[in-house]
Amino acid sequence: METSAPLASFTVIPNRRAVADEDRAALMEAPVFGKVFTDHMARVSWRDGEGWRDRRIVPLAPLALHPGAAVLHYAQQVFEGLKAYRHEDGSVWLFRPEANAARMADSARRMALPELDEGDFIAALESLVTADQAWVPEEPGASLYLRPVMIATEASLLVQPANEVEFLVTASPVGAYMSGGDAGVSIWVSRSYHRAIAGGTGEAKTAGNYAASMAPQAEAKAHGCQQVLFLDAKKNKFIEELGGMNVVVVRADGSVVTPRLTGTILPGVTRDSILTLLRDSGRSVQERDIPLAEILAGVESGEIVEVFACGTAAVVTPIARLVSDDFDLAVQGPEGESVAAEMLAGLTDIQYGRAEDPHGWMHRVV
Ligand SMILES: Cc1ncc(COP(=O)(O)O)c(C=O)c1O
Repeated sequence: METSAPLASFTVIPNRRAVADEDRAALMEAPVFGKVFTDHMARVSWRDGEGWRDRRIVPLAPLALHPGAAVLHYAQQVFEGLKAYRHEDGSVWLFRPEANAARMADSARRMALPELDEGDFIAALESLVTADQAWVPEEPGASLYLRPVMIATEASLLVQPANEVEFLVTASPVGAYMSGGDAGVSIWVSRSYHRAIAGGTGEAKTAGNYAASMAPQAEAKAHGCQQVLFLDAKKNKFIEELGGMNVVVVRADGSVVTPRLTGTILPGVTRDSILTLLRDSGRSVQERDIPLAEILAGVESGEIVEVFACGTAAVVTPIARLVSDDFDLAVQGPEGESVAAEMLAGLTDIQYGRAEDPHGWMHRVV
């Protein structure tokens, strides 16, 4: 492992062309997810034999990349996604950044990229959020989405791990991600495309998984659905996850089931947090293989009352309809308050400082 100073300080080069206050307010009014960027980005460079160096916050600007940069050809890349939340007293907090640091290190190992240690990862986020704190929204439900990314920049067409790498973090003010609201979203169950295979890159957060999900996502759209649900590639039988969210199923007896982490599923931080909150509240939670047939039969018989998706971007989103070539099934939802609504409130109350944080998930920045 490389040795790099933990919590190394970042040099700040302020953006002299920062967006004016009134223009920023207009940009933050109804931002489309990931389309508006703040004034700065964090940046750390790596070279084989030298390790991580030049920790800095710099004005947001296009990158100068050699057309032969390895990331452009072989997608040697990993990324992360987490949010900074403003509390009522004006303070700004990250949610479980250590979990994202650990997952990025796992993804980096899989993609033969250098690991960035937790201290550097969190210091980059803290320094960027501090520099761009005016961009953290105040409205309930809104937040500053942070996108760490690590790319192979070496100009080389050899298929081998690059010896030059950049770590960058950008920040974007965001509102809600998926439309569909309380009524829930329609989900296309893909039979012909798969997201991941055993031994592949499914549990790494790396660009190729998302590139491969775009054709099935287009197929979903063509069938009037907002997202795709993937089945396992080996048997084409068990539900795995959506293109960018994990899936949770609620049974009529109040118990909860979710696909177990098989190595082909991204281990979501939201998934883990929700399973923790569900167990805290005394619910039975099972992580196991779930056949699609069990979901279809359960929804029809009323034994399954809810299916919802969870992830950083959309938080908790009820699934109202499951569609494929041979079925189109409405998920009715429970009579009273749904588990999805309870989890959305429970999680966001912690994130926005409206409730106790018994697990020490929140990390203050400003
Ligand atoms: C494929 C996939 N599954 C699940 C998730 C949910 O993970 P998290 O809760 O950490 O955002 C994401 C989002 O990062 C994802 O891209």
